[in-house]
Amino acid sequence: MQNLDTTSLRVRDSRLWILDQQALPQRQDWCATDTVAELVDHIHALRVRGAPLIGLSASLLLALLAENGMERRALLQSLALLRAARPTAVNLMNNLARMAQALDRDDYPAAMAVEALRLVEEDRALCGAIAGHGVALVGAGSRLLTHCNTGGLATAGIGTALGVIRVAAAQGKVRRVWVDETRPLLQGGRLTAWELGELAIPYTLICDAMAAGLMARGEVDAVWVGADRIAANGDVANKIGTYSLAVLAHFHGIPFYVAAPHTSHDPACPDGAAIPIEQREAGEVTGVAGSFGSCQWAPENADVDNPAFDVTPAALISAWVLDTGIVTPAQAQSGIFRKPLTQG
Ligand code: MRU
Repeated sequence: MQNLDTTSLRVRDSRLWILDQQALPQRQDWCATDTVAELVDHIHALRVRGAPLIGLSASLLLALLAENGMERRALLQSLALLRAARPTAVNLMNNLARMAQALDRDDYPAAMAVEALRLVEEDRALCGAIAGHGVALVGAGSRLLTHCNTGGLATAGIGTALGVIRVAAAQGKVRRVWVDETRPLLQGGRLTAWELGELAIPYTLICDAMAAGLMARGEVDAVWVGADRIAANGDVANKIGTYSLAVLAHFHGIPFYVAAPHTSHDPACPDGAAIPIEQREAGEVTGVAGSFGSCQWAPENADVDNPAFDVTPAALISAWVLDTGIVTPAQAQSGIFRKPLTQG
């Protein structure tokens, strides 16, 4: 396979490398990833994370394994292991369905390489299209609040919600980005803050609990978040804490936008209640760990609930900004998400 460069994935001499998103921003460590077990471990540990990126990393690794001689049976088993690596983001399943079709072909090593690279190129284009649509919703001088990380680190392109913010900033429309730290794993505080800093976009880091006060003081003009899965009724699963922001935005009369590629849409999932929500380890809540060090502050054996995602009901969403266009609440109510999305 040809060499490839995205913000957080590389292919070099037929090897996959991932930028360790748990080490950022203190260190930029690239990990060679040669086996399915390694990639599943990286995905579990969120070294590779973000709905689009998980799907792309799995597709690239499968293509490289095929190219390096793995046989169809073993590839099928690998595909099943990767599909089960994380349950909530449907991009993984959607991308692997495409890889499975390539694996069905007689010339599967070549077909899988073509398909994996096509998925990467498509993702780049999807990010551009989302931003193209979304930027129209950003008013001049906007103060935008975002949650988790939806940028170049999480995709092959400029990102989804953060891609919109990036293009709006390039057009001079963004006065400030409020970055939710995004407890417990701090994707906002570590990754979004880092990306915005690199892009020289002015941002202010806040604890998640500060959003309500900012909104009450009139300091937030819109909320922009990504999605891990959009159900057939328009409900959206995204990083834990997204639902709280949607409730707050609704209460304060602030637009709440979800930006995502159509690869995050799952018409087979009737509503948010049917979206599988990943539960994670207690240690992420009882303390904090990362390249900055680690500590535990909660009592030993504290009872903990740690869902990685929550579901925002469609009724709280002002618009779904997709590569295929902007979906309004009226369109969502009339069933646009019940079928696969098409351009226009
Ligand atoms: O657990 P993570 O960091 O993979 O969660 C990521 C999110 O929830 C993002 O908002 C979503 O995947 C969209 S990324 C473009």
